[in-house]
Amino acid sequence: MIYNFDKNVDRSKNNSVKWEEIGLNFGDNDLLPMWVADMDFETAPEILEAMNNKLNQKIFGYVSRPDSYFESAVNWTQKRYGYDIDPKTLIHSPGVIPTISLIVRLFTSENDKIMIQNPVYTPFSNTVKLNNRKLVINSLIEKDGKYIIDFEDLENKAKDPDLKWFILCNPHNPVGRVWTKEELEKLAHICLKNDVRIIADEIWRDIVYKKHKHISIASLSKEIEDITITCFSATKTFNIAGLQASFVSFQRIEEFNSFNKELEILDIRRNNPFNLVAVEAAFNKGEEWLNELLEYLEANVDYVEKYIKENVPKINVIKPEGTYLMWLDFRNLKLDNDELSRVLKEEGKIALSNGYSFGEEGSGFVRMNIACPRYMVEEGLSRIKKAVDSIIK
Ligand SMILES: Cc1ncc(COP(=O)(O)O)c(C=O)c1O
Repeated sequence: MIYNFDKNVDRSKNNSVKWEEIGLNFGDNDLLPMWVADMDFETAPEILEAMNNKLNQKIFGYVSRPDSYFESAVNWTQKRYGYDIDPKTLIHSPGVIPTISLIVRLFTSENDKIMIQNPVYTPFSNTVKLNNRKLVINSLIEKDGKYIIDFEDLENKAKDPDLKWFILCNPHNPVGRVWTKEELEKLAHICLKNDVRIIADEIWRDIVYKKHKHISIASLSKEIEDITITCFSATKTFNIAGLQASFVSFQRIEEFNSFNKELEILDIRRNNPFNLVAVEAAFNKGEEWLNELLEYLEANVDYVEKYIKENVPKINVIKPEGTYLMWLDFRNLKLDNDELSRVLKEEGKIALSNGYSFGEEGSGFVRMNIACPRYMVEEGLSRIKKAVDSIIK
């Protein structure tokens, strides 16, 4: 390994949400933070070098975006996923969630229904509800430790003429599925048949483990691409989410133009000096770092699975195919959600994401972020064990 992911990183003065908003969210500052989805690893040195070069220029005025910026994203997508995105379809946006929210505002009206698959990343439901659109849930089904899509329910709900859009999370946060070609084709055909459009949130596409392969739903056919708007970024992959930069690909020119116009009205079309150079360096020079990161993360996943099996067998681990999030099933303990949170906080002294915050389907589950040095994973696991032991006794 060239890169050292074991390095002890001190984020205590990093203004990190994950480390410095624990008290605000859990009512106790003294917890080990394994909640917010960013990583306790320094970003790739290749990115730091690009940012340092920018810093050394000592002038941070408005920046213009060279063609090489979108080209770097196009080349990465082609190289890693074999999907050719036309750079002319791409728009820079400050983030995937602002993008989805803006799509909802621009291309739906108040009575329109939008479908999501709970348990899923909480801001999905917010983009629908806070914009006064109607939320429709196609709950995922947990079967023998793996989540699958309830296609029957999906198809029934898709028949409703008011259902206009479907928000896909691929790979899926928090259940860790990397949807297969067969699943994506089935889903897309239901959408095509029922005139339902797809927003594909592929922010996690780079964090996928060895036996699995990320497929962009839009890459399946021209017909599917035409009904899809795809969102992705380098920020989750390279731990630069605070720099706020993402990509969105529009196939329909009228939608491309409306979205662009809205960014123009809000005057948020430009990159800032740092995300401009960081994102391009990530895509052009970050592949080795990512490959090593994936090995490290997969070893963390295996470590958690083995430890829990051997030491806390009451918990079932939903093994992720992608993402650095472990979805832990505490339902055997038969605690209600408040009691589970209390035990983890007070007995375990650990900050984990409550499963029910991803929808009621997540009741009895907890999400653990394992994108941190191994010693921290070990510490987190011993705290979880302590919390569970306090209940069993
Ligand atoms: C599925 C998913 N989409 C979007 C985001 C956030 O993206 P952004 O910071 O670009 O809005 C996250 C962050 O964890 C996520 O898990």
